[in-house]
Amino acid sequence: MPRKISILVVDDEESVRDSLFNWFTEDGFSVDCAENAKKALTMLESDSYDIILADIKMPGMDGLEMLRRIKSLKSDSIIIVMTAFATVDTAVKALKDGAFDYVTKPFDPDDLTHLIRNATKQISLSEENETLRTKLISLENIEDLIGTSEAMKHVLREVESVAQTNSSVIITGESGTGKELVARAIHANSPRKFFPFVSVHCGALTESLLESELFGHEKGAFTGAMYNRKGRFEMADNGSIFLDEIATISAKMQVELLRVLESKSFMRVGGNKEIASDFRVICATNRDLKSMVEKGTFREDLFYRLNVMNIQLPPLRDRIEDIPLLVDFFIRKYCTSMNRQDMTIDPAAMNRLKEFNFPGNIRELENMIERAIVVGNGKKITLKDLPLEKTMVASPAESLDDFEKSYIFQILNKYNWNISRTASALKVDRVTLYNKIKKYELKPPSGS
Ligand SMILES: Nc1ncnc2c1ncn2[C@@H]1O[C@H](COP(=O)(O)OP(=O)(O)OP(=O)(O)O)[C@@H](O)[C@H]1O
Ligand SMILES: [Mg+2]
Repeated sequence: MPRKISILVVDDEESVRDSLFNWFTEDGFSVDCAENAKKALTMLESDSYDIILADIKMPGMDGLEMLRRIKSLKSDSIIIVMTAFATVDTAVKALKDGAFDYVTKPFDPDDLTHLIRNATKQISLSEENETLRTKLISLENIEDLIGTSEAMKHVLREVESVAQTNSSVIITGESGTGKELVARAIHANSPRKFFPFVSVHCGALTESLLESELFGHEKGAFTGAMYNRKGRFEMADNGSIFLDEIATISAKMQVELLRVLESKSFMRVGGNKEIASDFRVICATNRDLKSMVEKGTFREDLFYRLNVMNIQLPPLRDRIEDIPLLVDFFIRKYCTSMNRQDMTIDPAAMNRLKEFNFPGNIRELENMIERAIVVGNGKKITLKDLPLEKTMVASPAESLDDFEKSYIFQILNKYNWNISRTASALKVDRVTLYNKIKKYELKPPSGS
């Protein structure tokens, strides 16, 4: 779970503060407000904020002066200024003085969301870079991949041998079987381990967003492209790029990707210079790419280029002997993170887990254990703490839709129906989530 991003709103108009406060709080940010620049500067003495959203025109000290003062404090906060449409000139001045971006009033909600998303991305990128080394060292430990079944031993041997090569690899397996974990393990055990592991969720982005995400863009390439931006291929130089849900990319992207893989170079969107990058490609999919090739929906030449190596992850129901180990592992993991004494599990509950067929695989088991620790008595997990009967038992009569519906419902409840957080937990965008809620006619349980 990423940490909560904090935002400070500085505006002399109460209605603006109120609406921004509500808007961002609903989106899962932690928000404070100040009615003038002086107050904001005082608040900054004791608190730091990831993002400061400041009005330019305020009585007393104006936004520009405040911006200069904050900058002189060497604060890491990302500053976004707000301006009436008529005074964009001033906003441009603010950019020169180090503002990250500006937004015009009255706000267009889409603009605002987009801007905050960019700022958030910027924050997580700089944090990612900082923690990269430590993270890699802990991930290097292949023991993160739990399992002693024959199927899992086979996977571990493959991970180790694939890690030594530079070839493209496709990791296949049902949802929740550990594809991303395996991708990280490959990188962390490869000679590229001290360079970035860059992950791209292809399924979550539209074609044009994916294009600028992968290749980067030049300032002015499209409306809203205010800066030059490095793409993910560029960031993955000397490291690995993980293309998750590769089966979802459009025909046009398939062509572009093939070209990049062949030339190891590309142009930024709106750019005219070839940029070279030395990256290793790791892909994941839960679809059968081979049959997509046969049906003509996935290019054969691209498939062969990506599929030099292939690691297939077994569904959990095919390696039930690993369930006790995984259960112990997750109990320890969550008891530690929740600061609780280690719990045990009732043998009857364990037996039922071994009979369950886990359509959501290890992720589902993990969520189940986490939940059981939260609702349980603090000592022993018993059958009644596990939602094995109610929603998740898959029978042949249960369709994929039913499963999806109950799964989405469960995650929505977990995050108290916060759309942004649920969408990010499900790794879909908010529009997709709204559409699913509409499709399945989901409603919050009464009383929440
Ligand atoms: N062998 C394993 N040992 C321990 N934890 C595991 C193992 N495999 C998966 N997990 C955990 O299960 C969860 C799901 O794994 P991961 O995200 O890698 O699955 P995935 O195959 O990428 O799923 P999806 O297709 O839904 O993206 C993660 O929290 C991961 O840490
Ligand atoms: Mg995944």
